[in-house]
Formats: sequence, structure tokens, C-alpha cells
Amino acid sequence: MKTAMEVTEHTLVETLDGLARFTGDGPGVTRLAYDAAWREAHRWLRERAASLGLAATADAAGNLFFHDPAVKPEEPARPVLFVGSHLDSVVRGGRFDGAYGAVSGMLIAAELRGAGKLPVVGFVTCEEEESRFRAHLMGARSVLGNVRAAELDAVVDIAGVSWRAALEEARAAGCAAPLAAGEEPFRPPFRPATMLELHIEQGPVLEREGGAIGIVEHIAGYRRLIARLRGEARHSGTTPMRERRDALAAAGEIILAAESLAHELDHPAVATAGNVRPAPGLFNVVPGECELWLEVRHPGAAALDAMGLELGRRCRAIATRRGVEVEIERASGEEPTPLSPALAAEATKLAGELSLPHRRMTSGAGHDAMEFARAGVPTLMVFVPSRGGISHSPEEFTTPAALFTGYRFTRELARRLSERGAA
Ligand code: HGY
Ligand code: MN
Ligand code: MN
Repeated sequence: MKTAMEVTEHTLVETLDGLARFTGDGPGVTRLAYDAAWREAHRWLRERAASLGLAATADAAGNLFFHDPAVKPEEPARPVLFVGSHLDSVVRGGRFDGAYGAVSGMLIAAELRGAGKLPVVGFVTCEEEESRFRAHLMGARSVLGNVRAAELDAVVDIAGVSWRAALEEARAAGCAAPLAAGEEPFRPPFRPATMLELHIEQGPVLEREGGAIGIVEHIAGYRRLIARLRGEARHSGTTPMRERRDALAAAGEIILAAESLAHELDHPAVATAGNVRPAPGLFNVVPGECELWLEVRHPGAAALDAMGLELGRRCRAIATRRGVEVEIERASGEEPTPLSPALAAEATKLAGELSLPHRRMTSGAGHDAMEFARAGVPTLMVFVPSRGGISHSPEEFTTPAALFTGYRFTRELARRLSERGAA
């Protein structure tokens, strides 16, 4: 049975505005996995889904699924079409990253309820940004059943709160189902036959070219490293410059070396030092210790490997020359990931039929889609332009018209895939 509801540009923008209200301190949006803003947003989305005639099912990780009440979770092996994105944000991020795809997935599931052979399920992953926990793509990995029980205790946030403890709080607030016993705590409630993720581009390409739709065929990989530097804490007034083993100064040189490495390799290589944590952190003590967070990204697998190795080599060389010890931990990473060529071809054809200016592209940002694609799920991302290419910033912006164009395009793609049924 086809429902009568029709999403307009106003519905989409109003729903996005509604979700953006759930944030910690500004500017911008700060909604970290399982925190108070996240839990409130989760509740609000469940209520919204119910008002749209959808059932809202939360799994044991707090991932959310919006579906026809007639499509029951955990029906063994029943394939569905996933459309969605993530609920969490970076600290002081924008109101569209993740939220746009999450809200669109829910609205598309409502519009296409009962319409095709392959049921459309809107999904919202609990965590994608790695901004609270030192773990990556926790939502997508748990949706796919790729998390072992030990990780619930091993993964902690900066205050030492474990994934298990944070989840307990979310569960108490009604945002998660009970964990399964045994080694596999997350049992996927649905099996995605195909996955679509609608997202803002977060870069400058579409805006510069006047494109409306980006069809993502590849996502760049990344390596995240934590360098722990250990020198000697000494009196800043009495220790001569040539006798110092300054961990923070070594970190400073490493930061510039990482930047130079990316410049030398040139576009599309990028390198970033996102955090530096010296100790003891006083005016009058030469820093004896420093933790430095480094990240390199590249769309090519061999180039990314080489970049990671070269960054490690430069870290060690700088530390040795300065008499500082260094220990390098690989915190997380994703391999460069191709998305489905068949879906990209179908999307390209659709964009042509609809006369929408479009292009194939590579995403420099990481996404949940990477995990789905690597798990063998045919996966595609659709991008809309970002003003000034800005993202991970309160200044993130896309016009309502551009958001709605991406929405209508993805809805039509979902409608066709749903009508055709599982491959
Ligand atoms: O960091 C990323 O690339 C993504 O925004 N999570
Ligand atoms: Mn992001
Ligand atoms: Mn995102």
C-alpha cells in the first residue's frame, strides 16, 4: 500500500532544523555518541518516525532503524534497502554532516513505505566521527555485526568511560536494546541488500563546477597515529637551551614535517595534526611529555601506506635528533574503498534522465559507507554541494534547494531499487 505522505523542501528543512536543536555548547553542533544531546535527538527522531507512520527500532548499539511496522526486525535473512547516515557530530561541527542523510533516510522510508518489493529502511548510526571514543565507525561496524564483546570494555572516551558504560546509560534512556550474550553483542536486526548514504560533499568541487549531484565512486583511506614523546621535564629558567630534551618542541617539529610531507606529495595527499597534549603544561617547565595526534589521508592504497610509513620515519628521526623517546600507536584507520560501480552507473543514468548537473567523484572524507562496501553490501553515496567547501565547522551550509534536489534524487534512486527487489 502506498502512503499519501509527500515530503516537501519545507518538511526536509524543518526536520533538519529540529534535529540541530539537540547539541551541547556552541558554536555549531556538538552531539557526541550517547551524550545528553545525542539521547534527546534519538528520542525526538523516534517520535518523528512514529508521527510519519514508521516503526523505530533501536539495536543494542543505539543504531536506529525506521521501517514499515509490517516489516519486522530480525526476520531471518529478509533483505532490505538501507538509506541513512550518522547521528553524531564532531565537536563544534555543522548541522548537516550526518544529520542530512539521517533525516533523509527517515523521510524516504516514510514516503516509500509499502511501495516496492525491497522494503526501504531508514537507518541512523550511533557513531561515525571518532569524536568521543578512540574507535572508528562504531555504528556501521555494529550494524554489520562486526564488533566483538571485548571491544565494549577496551574502547574508552577521554574521561575513561567505556563503550559498555556509555551504552548502559543510553539503554536506561530507552535509546538501545539489551546486548546479546556471548562474543557477538550486536545482532543486526536487518540485512542490508543495498546501502545508500546521502551526504553533503564537505569539499569545494560541486560548488565550483555548478554541480547538483555528486556520485561517489571511491572514498579516500586514512591512518590515525598517536605519537607519545618523552623528554625531560626541567626548570624553564635555569636549563640552558642546548641541554633540553623538550617533548613539545619535538612535537612542533613533527607537526611541520607532517605538513611538509603532504605538500611534497601534493593533492590529494593530506596530513593533519589535530591535537597536542603536553605535560605538565606550565609556563615554567620544559615539557617532559607530549601526546600528538596525527592523521594522513590518500585515495590510493599504496600511496597511503607509503605516507603512513614515511610519517613514522620522520617522527622517529626528529625525536632521535632531539634526544626524545617516541612511541607510535596506530589509533585507527580505514583503507581506501571503492563503492558499487553498478550503483554509480545507475545513479549516473538517473541524473541524466532528470537533467541534473552531476559528476562522478572521490570523497576525501571518511563515511559509514566504507564499512558497508567492504562487508560486500552494494553501496553508493550521493553528495550535494557544500558552500565554500566548508565542513566540520559551524559554518557548514547547503541551500534548502540543493538539499531538496539531493533528497528527491536519492528518493527516486531508492524507489527504483526498491521496485526492482533484491538482486
Ligand atoms: O573524519 C571523517 O572523514 C568523517 O567526517 N567522519
Ligand atoms: Mn564528519
Ligand atoms: Mn558525515
